[in-house]
Amino acid sequence: MLRFILGLVGLGFVGVLLISFFVTTADYFSNPPEPTAEQEFHHHAKELHLASDGPLGQFDEKQLQRGFQVYKEVCAACHGLSLVAFRDLAALGYNEAEVKAIADQWAIQVPTTNEETGEAATRKAIPADRFPSPYPNEIAARAANNNANPPDLSLITKARHDGAAYIYSLLTGYERNQPTELVRKFPAAKTPQGLYYNPYFPTLNLAMPPPITTNGQVTYAPGNPPPSVDQMAKDVSAFLVWTAEPKLEQRHRSGLAVTIFLLIATIIGYFAYRNIWATHKAKVRTTGPLEPHNIAKTQIAKDQEGVAG
Ligand code: HEC
Repeated sequence: MLRFILGLVGLGFVGVLLISFFVTTADYFSNPPEPTAEQEFHHHAKELHLASDGPLGQFDEKQLQRGFQVYKEVCAACHGLSLVAFRDLAALGYNEAEVKAIADQWAIQVPTTNEETGEAATRKAIPADRFPSPYPNEIAARAANNNANPPDLSLITKARHDGAAYIYSLLTGYERNQPTELVRKFPAAKTPQGLYYNPYFPTLNLAMPPPITTNGQVTYAPGNPPPSVDQMAKDVSAFLVWTAEPKLEQRHRSGLAVTIFLLIATIIGYFAYRNIWATHKAKVRTTGPLEPHNIAKTQIAKDQEGVAG
């Protein structure tokens, strides 16, 4: 009896679930959600091909140096690189003296304490320091940027969908005016005061003013491509791939070595298997079908032969 009642209670729950499922589904189709400005006007990241792409990709050292220059002269005013140390720049081809000079001349100083008074102070950076954040804390960062916090860029290419291609698209994707279609259809999505319209940003408007605006904003050393807006955006995106994964080349190299090793091991394993099983399999074949049910069948066939006629 108890089982019967419990079964009924269970059925009741299932019934309620089914009813709510059908009611919600019917409501979704009869009354579909309103499209939003983000859904209609957001662009997917543009194509970007970098030397470090693909399973065998290697960094283009010259490009990383150019990207670092863009970071230093443009982005470092608002964004830190708290997971990268000045001495890591040796991987981009700078020698010890150059790294020392870069740290020494860095525009933002490193926080420290005055040894005599114990008060907060700053000092020049040394190669062992990480790239300092331009703001002492998040409140200061927000106060200076229309209440938005410029994120640390060390891992940004890993933290955003489409990584470097997204950064490149964001930097080159600002539009001075919103499409008239957007303002007409979604008056509420008009870019607020102090924000900038960029269809590559998920919410279409962001607090970062266009950082790279004019060709030649950064002067590249001779022997490099001309510093067009597009080139600078590409270079800094390539640089941010390096900051997020400085050991990418080693990973690609060991990945290749491991794949080749596994391939050879598989081939050897296959031949070892053939070798070990060769005699056993051969024996089975020469002695014929030994399974009891086969023996039984043979016996039956023989018996039937005897009775026939
Ligand atoms: C004037 C200060 C300023 C400069 C210069 C600047 N940024 Fe920003 N950046 C910001 C602010 C503020 C935000 C946060 C925007 C927001 O969330 O609305 C931001 C956000 C970003 C984001 C994150 C976007 C996201 O998807 O959340 C990236 C990536 C970025 N900046 C890259 C750069 C690069 C690369 C440079 C140099 C070429 C640069 N920024 C220069 C202020 C700046």
